[in-house]
Amino acid sequence: MRNLLEITDFTTQEIDTLIATAIDIIKEPKRYSEACKGKKLATLFYEPSTRTRLSFTAAMMELGGNVLGFSDAAASSVSKGEVVADTVRVVENFADIIAMRHNKEGAPWVASQFASIPIINAGDGGHCHPTQTLTDMLTIYRHKGRFSGLTIGFCGDLLYGRTVHSLAKAMGRYEGIKFVFISPKELKIPDYLRKEIEKHGYQYIETTNLEDAMPSLDILYMTRVQKERFDSEAEYNKLKDSFILDMHKLHNAQKDMIILHPLPRVNEIAYEVDADPRALYFEQVLNGKFIRMALIYTLLRWAEEHKESPKQPIVEVSPLKCKNARCISATEMVSSLCTTSENGDRHCFYCDTILK
Ligand code: NCD
Repeated sequence: MRNLLEITDFTTQEIDTLIATAIDIIKEPKRYSEACKGKKLATLFYEPSTRTRLSFTAAMMELGGNVLGFSDAAASSVSKGEVVADTVRVVENFADIIAMRHNKEGAPWVASQFASIPIINAGDGGHCHPTQTLTDMLTIYRHKGRFSGLTIGFCGDLLYGRTVHSLAKAMGRYEGIKFVFISPKELKIPDYLRKEIEKHGYQYIETTNLEDAMPSLDILYMTRVQKERFDSEAEYNKLKDSFILDMHKLHNAQKDMIILHPLPRVNEIAYEVDADPRALYFEQVLNGKFIRMALIYTLLRWAEEHKESPKQPIVEVSPLKCKNARCISATEMVSSLCTTSENGDRHCFYCDTILK
């Protein structure tokens, strides 16, 4: 069964094909208007969302399919204490594919261990957000025509910003990519991601100065400081306005640099920037619907080709503990906690945290 839990579940060729499908959908939407007729998408959203959930819903509707689900865990049996493993084994009786957003890191991995229908990770805690990455990549492709040789600056909350983690992994796989990570020192990229970037030999620098970095950038990817992931409000308040992009800061940017943001914006891009032709964040939203159409269509086709019988519950419980309190393993029964990477580091299977 093919899922999309993290962006690297798809090869670069498969991503190229998804992008080509999305572009075909944009050109000829009528050809796809019944492509998923009779199919159902379940949107299981345990965490707030506007864009992602509505764009999954719109995507399935435009493919001729139907949508069911919940947008607030408090309104589902989760509030009675139901675990992810049980919820997905219930929902798979009613739907053909699941898009799940969860506040616990690794929850969609647990779902995929129990479900016999495809699982799409629609954002898990501060970990990954692969469908936002597909959205970002379609936008980059439509404006730059390529991925290789680009310099991409990520600015803001790079520690908890899950969209950053997935996009960096995706873009790093193309030739000649350079990363500039711009953040306060408290919000630098997580250790596991830095190790992965170093292991693959991707070029990167880390800085606290946006204006110095600006002239080198082909893409500026702004992010919100992720208030909901902070342990202390005081720490959030200290860091929330670390970077505010305005027209003055853009004075030395390339004329064809593109400005991306997964949205919602809080304070990190001044409204005056919206009128600049380089600001693409609202166009990104529309691209998100088209690429999700391509994704749902593709995963459902693959699932038809390789039908799976219902999975046996996993009974073996891992004796190891992940130290990340935001990991799904901290609150729910999991198995196979640890994976070992090529350099010998042991990682949590669910949230990637390095296990000492
Ligand atoms: C992002 C997310 O949920 O991670 N939003 C989105 O899905 N477009 C970014 C954010 O919440 O800051």
